[in-house]
Amino acid sequence: METVLPDFDAAYWQARYATGRDGWDAHAITPPLRAYFDQLDVVQQPRILIPGAGRAYEAEYLHQLGFKQVFVADIAPEALAALAARVPDFPAAHLLLADFFALPNDPLYDLIVEQTFFCALNPVLRPAYARQCAQLLRPGGTLTGLLFNTAFGPVQEPPFGGSKEEYREYFVPYFDFRHFDTSTNSLRPRQGRELFICLKRKAV
Ligand SMILES: C[S@@+](CC[C@H](N)C(=O)[O-])C[C@H]1O[C@@H](n2cnc3c(N)ncnc32)[C@H](O)[C@@H]1O
Repeated sequence: METVLPDFDAAYWQARYATGRDGWDAHAITPPLRAYFDQLDVVQQPRILIPGAGRAYEAEYLHQLGFKQVFVADIAPEALAALAARVPDFPAAHLLLADFFALPNDPLYDLIVEQTFFCALNPVLRPAYARQCAQLLRPGGTLTGLLFNTAFGPVQEPPFGGSKEEYREYFVPYFDFRHFDTSTNSLRPRQGRELFICLKRKAV
């Protein structure tokens, strides 16, 4: 019989933060995203979205590099409060306490950054995740980041694993694949277990 998973809603995530069940938190920018961000052109001031951002070390790093159009979205107030406390001059208007699936697509983003958000979602939402990323990006815009390429066993709550082959199907309708392979510079516990992806929104 198929197991129906509960809703992983704001209360669920708030409780995980409140009880310290936050094993996903790397406490710093991760090496693959740091390397990616270091080669971005700050002069272009791309409009960047980090959904399911958590404590958002990526946003902090981009902010320090001088990127001024960085937006973080999360349904857990605790996550956004942590970024605001660490980086008081991060624009409050760029802290979006919102459901990723309800984010408006006007204006569009140039870049969406993924890190342990996709694996946090009920897997039935994966096709919708790919579609929403596509709807939020301008044609030619980029979805980049990391996806676990591993199974976590029969679990009833996040993180949920998966495989490269499975994921490919979700993104193919909307994206051209520039990179979709095992990350070479992952954090040690994630080494060999995650893909670095760089996908370009197809022209519509
Ligand atoms: C596993 S945590 C990852 C946080 C962060 N990306 C990191 O790597 O530290 C997943 C995050 O997604 C948020 N989240 C879950 N569902 C969401 C949704 N539908 N919209 C926005 N954020 C969501 C949770 O509140 C949580 O902060």
